[in-house]
Amino acid sequence: MAELPGTTDRRIDALLTLLAENSTIVISGAKIAKEIGVTRQRVWRWIEKLRAVGVRVKGHPRTGYHIERVPDILVPQMLSHRLYGTPFARRIYHFFKTDSTNAVALRLGEAGEPHGTVVLAEEQTAGRGRAGRSWTSEKSAGIYCSILLRPPVPPAHAPLLTLVAGLAARDAAAEDLDSLPDIRWPNDVLVGGRKFCGILTEMHAEPDRIHYAVIGIGMNVNQTKMPADLADIATSLRMETGKVHSRLELLIRLLRHLDRYYNQFLTDGALPIIRRFAQVSSYYEGKRVLITTATESFTGTTAGLEPSGVLRVARDDGRGIEAVLSGDVAEAS
Ligand code: BTN
Repeated sequence: MAELPGTTDRRIDALLTLLAENSTIVISGAKIAKEIGVTRQRVWRWIEKLRAVGVRVKGHPRTGYHIERVPDILVPQMLSHRLYGTPFARRIYHFFKTDSTNAVALRLGEAGEPHGTVVLAEEQTAGRGRAGRSWTSEKSAGIYCSILLRPPVPPAHAPLLTLVAGLAARDAAAEDLDSLPDIRWPNDVLVGGRKFCGILTEMHAEPDRIHYAVIGIGMNVNQTKMPADLADIATSLRMETGKVHSRLELLIRLLRHLDRYYNQFLTDGALPIIRRFAQVSSYYEGKRVLITTATESFTGTTAGLEPSGVLRVARDDGRGIEAVLSGDVAEAS
């Protein structure tokens, strides 16, 4: 596995697992230091670092430490055994802070990392959104995850990969919500009309072959408020339910659903994916929309998806059905 500058030291991962597995007892700093092979000073420094991302560790170097509740931090050791049997269990890179997990995953794709590699960050300083926008990535409040895939399909099928990821995110979140989430084509996940999850797919491809694709998923989980400019259009699971949610459990569910939908897509093709989208998205058919592409804006009514995953819209201006490859979709009155 490539050593990446900035990734979380594996011994921090081991420290966290040690504390989590012994949450009912106080473990001395000396014992922890011996177990994970570092000095007691270093144990103390790392515990301070974990506290800074919200891990509740009680105690101090002389008496010992214990964890107050199962930590909600997305380190590889906490994830990999729960992802056993999926391609996402083996290569998980974790950062306390990075610019963009998509940027890291794209570099890993170029360096030959295998299908299923996962990149996670507690915080992003330059989170990327669709259409050149940014993605606000408050420390340890959301899930910031990029998955490297090497799908054996032509680039024309890429929109379906995006749908697959949107369905996985939607199903993962549905279990934590009181009302049903919706998907705005292609893959914004909404609750109560506000977006809490966005997906950015980037890839490196030739006309007939995808070398690798990176699916970047940003999910607002435990944010208590949104930046003023997003307050009308964005939300978090916590803001919707009034409860704190486990990012760890959400991410595990998300990756398990992704594995399931991805395999279904490879074995049975686009049809079951499109059928599922039709079941869970109010945008599939009969929705009044405003479409903004790179070249124009127009209103119309959605009319299903093409087999390639492209959205069909019956234009109001009488110019028939438009196949929308990419662009912004907004609900129109
Ligand atoms: C959108 O605009 O809706 C897509 C947002 C995608 C954000 C995620 S967060 C993890 C990954 N890394 C990034 O820089 N972007 C994606």
